Amino acid sequence: MSDKNEVAAASQKPVVQSERPKEAEGFGGPIGLDIGTTNIVSARARGASIQITKQLNAFFTVPASKITGMTLLKNDVLYFSQNGSYYIIGNAADTFANTFNTDTRRPVESGLLSAREDEALNVIQSIIKTLVPPPKSQGELVCYSIPGDPIDTKISVLHHDTILKRTLQDMGYTAIAINEGFAVIMSELAEESYTGIGISMGGGMCNVCFSYLSVPVFSYSIQRGGDYVDTMVGAAVGESATRIKLIKEKELNLLKEPRNKIETSLSIYYEDLLENLILSIQRVITTSESVPRLSKPISVVLSGGTAMPAGVREKFEKLLKANRLPLQFSSVRMAEDPLNTTAKGALQLAIAEEK
Ligand SMILES: Nc1ncnc2c1ncn2[C@@H]1O[C@H](COP(=O)(O)OP(=O)(O)OP(=O)(O)O)[C@@H](O)[C@H]1O
Ligand SMILES: [Mg+2]
Repeated sequence: MSDKNEVAAASQKPVVQSERPKEAEGFGGPIGLDIGTTNIVSARARGASIQITKQLNAFFTVPASKITGMTLLKNDVLYFSQNGSYYIIGNAADTFANTFNTDTRRPVESGLLSAREDEALNVIQSIIKTLVPPPKSQGELVCYSIPGDPIDTKISVLHHDTILKRTLQDMGYTAIAINEGFAVIMSELAEESYTGIGISMGGGMCNVCFSYLSVPVFSYSIQRGGDYVDTMVGAAVGESATRIKLIKEKELNLLKEPRNKIETSLSIYYEDLLENLILSIQRVITTSESVPRLSKPISVVLSGGTAMPAGVREKFEKLLKANRLPLQFSSVRMAEDPLNTTAKGALQLAIAEEK
């Protein structure tokens, strides 16, 4: 079987219900797709509700052999074959990495397609195909998230954006990009006429967008997020970033006094991340010529996995108040469903475009 066929065989197999419900396969209509450093999430309208499916944006390689190939297929493990290895992709990669006591590899690093991993493109395309079935009719809409250009480097998101667009177009879709911060605004600020600041704090980045009546005024990213916290804390306390990530996701509460050196270090690097984020907002607002003078205070919405620990919202609000900005804020609030906000916002835009 050729490499291409094996991808197809693996990705056409029905996957475990929670990863790719069977209904997703033949169900047409616009799709919202969040292609993040840690997770890829798809959102689709289904009657009055939104159907979410997701995979980890990760892979793990094992030596190729007939018996392994058959066993993986039999167990609904998604993989493709390349250069004598099987590339196990998505959620299953994490299970393999944990079993072998090592780390998964990632096709996206700090928010952008990795230049380090030769296989990045094949991996990301294969994962996308497990979440986005072929369109029912040619040209159906998919709206996919892209980061804002990183503020502190000369890196552009153009390469990342173009590759993703081509991937989706080659599948038969009409593909529209949405800035990740703007997707947060689309998902959470409809009642405020899409006016306010949307922030997505993810694994590799924090994305910020300020929009006035649905028109983005500025958007950008900083290439720091949950991975930065895990790596820095791990190095400070002599633990692996993977272990720090597990502790952070399970136990971190920034409203409580740290109980040990890991929690102390987590609170230090969270504070550092939030300060950096607020300073970047201050810098952009004070140097931008196009920030509108608004008569009413605006809302800030925080989303993404890194915004989830208790106390992040409160700390962000405190720092925002301490930094005098030429804008007035009415509230800092959490998105309803932080891990799925970007995909939901992308879906809202796809639905609006289709109309
Ligand atoms: N409950 C939690 N508490 C703290 N951190 C969490 C929690 N759940 C997830 N995270 C962290 O959130 C990050 C993943 O969030 P998310 O899925 O929003 O990122 P992403 O969209 O894949 O990445 P990016 O937008 O940066 O490209 C990881 O760093 C993960 O450790
Ligand atoms: Mg994200």
